[in-house]
Amino acid sequence: MIEKLMQMTRASGCAAKINPKDLENFLSKIKQTKDKRLLAGLEHNEDAAVYKLDENTGIVFTLDLITPLVNDPYVFGQIAATNSLSDVFAMGGRPLMALNIVCFPEEEKKYNLLEEILRGGADKVAEAGGILAGGHSLNDKEPKYGLAVVGLVDPKKVIYNNTPEVGDFLILTKPLGVGIISTAIKGEIAEKRVVDKAVFWMTKLNKLSQELLELNIHSLTDVTGFGLVGHLSEMLLLSGKELGAKIMFEDIPVIEGVYDYVNTGMVSEGAMKNRKIYSCIAEKNINLSFEKEIVLYDPQTSGGLLISIDPQQVEKAIKLLHQEGFTESKIIGEVIKSKSKERIKIC
Ligand code: CO
Ligand code: CO
Repeated sequence: MIEKLMQMTRASGCAAKINPKDLENFLSKIKQTKDKRLLAGLEHNEDAAVYKLDENTGIVFTLDLITPLVNDPYVFGQIAATNSLSDVFAMGGRPLMALNIVCFPEEEKKYNLLEEILRGGADKVAEAGGILAGGHSLNDKEPKYGLAVVGLVDPKKVIYNNTPEVGDFLILTKPLGVGIISTAIKGEIAEKRVVDKAVFWMTKLNKLSQELLELNIHSLTDVTGFGLVGHLSEMLLLSGKELGAKIMFEDIPVIEGVYDYVNTGMVSEGAMKNRKIYSCIAEKNINLSFEKEIVLYDPQTSGGLLISIDPQQVEKAIKLLHQEGFTESKIIGEVIKSKSKERIKIC
C-alpha cells in the first residue's frame, strides 16, 4: 500500500535528466527536419519548439513530466504542471491548452492519489490562463506526471535562450536549492518551513506581465535540470559568440536551510552529475565551500527564469518582478566578452 507518494519513486531521484552530452550525441543521429517555419526545434536546444504560422502568429509546443518530489499528491500535481508550463513562458509565450500525461501503478488502486495529482495540475493550467483539454495515462510502477502544452507567441517577440549581449545584466527570479530540499524530503529530514518555501517557489508560475516582457530582454531560459551553471553555460555557449559571464555568488538567491542539508549529505545524484559536466566551464575566483558550490549545480524542478537584460532596464525589471511576486529576484551578474574555456567567473 502506498503511504507516501515519494516511496513509489526509485532511489535514483527526481528531476534527473539524461546526461546532456549523451543526449546531444544520439539526438544528432536523428534526422532533423529543417523548415523555415520552425523557429525553434531540435537543433536549437530550446526550451520549447516554436512554429511560425504567419507573420503574427507562432505556436509554442512543449512536453515535460517528472516523478514525485513531495508527498502531497495535489502539491505534486501543481509542481509538475508549473514545471511543464514554464517552457512556454521561457519562450515569451502564453499557454493556450494542455494535455495531461500521467503514469500510475494500476494495481495499487489508489485512484484518490491520482485524482489529487490531476486536480493540482488542472488548477495550475487554469491559473496560467490555459485550458486542460484531455490527456493520456499509462500503467507504470513509478508515478510520473506532466503536461504537453500548446501556447501562442508573436514570432517577432520570441525570446531565445542563446541571445545574450555583452554588458547585459543577469537576473534570477527564484531562489536555488529545491533539488537538495527534495533529496532531504526523501531522506525524511526536511523541516516543514523549508519544504513550504520550496513548494511555494516550485508552484509559482514563471508568468511575466506584458510590461516586463516588453522590456529589452535579450535572452531567457528557465533554470531546471542542468542547474544554474548548466543553463547559463548553454546561454553563453550556444550563442556562438565570444561571451562569458561574471556571477556574484553572494547575490544568488538560495532557499534558507539548504546548506545544512548538503552538510548532512543530502546531495542529489543530478547535482554531482551536473558538477562533473559543467564545472570545467566555471572559474572560482573566491573560496567556495562544497555546500555553497554544489547549489550552483543543483537540478531545479520548476526553477526560476534566468533573464539576460539590457543594463538600462534592469532596475525597472527588478521592481516589476518584485511586484509580480518574484520577491527574491536578484541581479546575479553580467555578461562579458570571453573566449576562455572557463566562460563563467564566480566572484
Ligand atoms: Co526549460
Ligand atoms: Co523542459
